[in-house]
Amino acid sequence: MNNNIVINSTNINNTTSNESSTTSNEILVLYYSKDGSTKKLANLIARGINSIPSITARIRTVPNVSAVCEQIAPTIPDEGAPYATHKDLRECIGLALGSPVRFGNMSSSVKYFLDGTTDEWLAGSLVGKPASVFTSSASLHGGQEACLLSMIIPLLHHGMVIVGIPYTESALMNTTSGGTPYGVTHWAGINNENEISDNEKQLAIAQGKLLATTALNLWRSNQQ
Ligand SMILES: Cc1cc2nc3c(=O)[nH]c(=O)nc-3n(C[C@H](O)[C@H](O)[C@H](O)COP(=O)(O)O)c2cc1C
Repeated sequence: MNNNIVINSTNINNTTSNESSTTSNEILVLYYSKDGSTKKLANLIARGINSIPSITARIRTVPNVSAVCEQIAPTIPDEGAPYATHKDLRECIGLALGSPVRFGNMSSSVKYFLDGTTDEWLAGSLVGKPASVFTSSASLHGGQEACLLSMIIPLLHHGMVIVGIPYTESALMNTTSGGTPYGVTHWAGINNENEISDNEKQLAIAQGKLLATTALNLWRSNQQ
């Protein structure tokens, strides 16, 4: 069990808005997953985050985007993680963002959520916070890295500090399935038939640990 600490927003970023308060020691693990593969990676990253003392993963998802404009999804999903709110973004001291590959890009559901973060961008709520990305795809060379980069771009606009996976993680060199220095990936197969490989698992946990450690170090340096 982690011992929760309270981190004041003024210690972690320069915003003066109470709305933008960072009030927890949590890292937001925010993902969209239609068939469950990206969700598996999210849970492994959360495991890595939770292994760092005093840091906890807050797991959230986003609803499917409907072609019917402004069609409303239920506030709380029938099962699985709750839907993310912008408050989650403001409160957490770091972010792991995951999406399945969609034609080499992030899914519209994740993009839709990010496109709604104008207030956080204007307030600078995410400036200086660490962020990390992850994805799953059907084919091994079907755009995993392009998808990861597509998610990194808006996070850079928000002023976030990108955390990848260093080659000191031996699984990065050894993997014959997913795993990139830009963030962990899963090669799911055309029918989602591939289990998470040992290397993918190691990399997801390592990514969660590095993100949590970085968030903690940044917070501590803001205390000095
Ligand atoms: C509209 C659409 C586009 C997709 N584009 C790609 C792609 O470019 N490359 C690829 O390898 N897989 C692609 N896929 C497959 C998904 O990325 C893959 O099944 C992924 O593992 C699903 O993740 P999930 O189980 O978290 O939903 C696409 C799937 C859909 C529905």
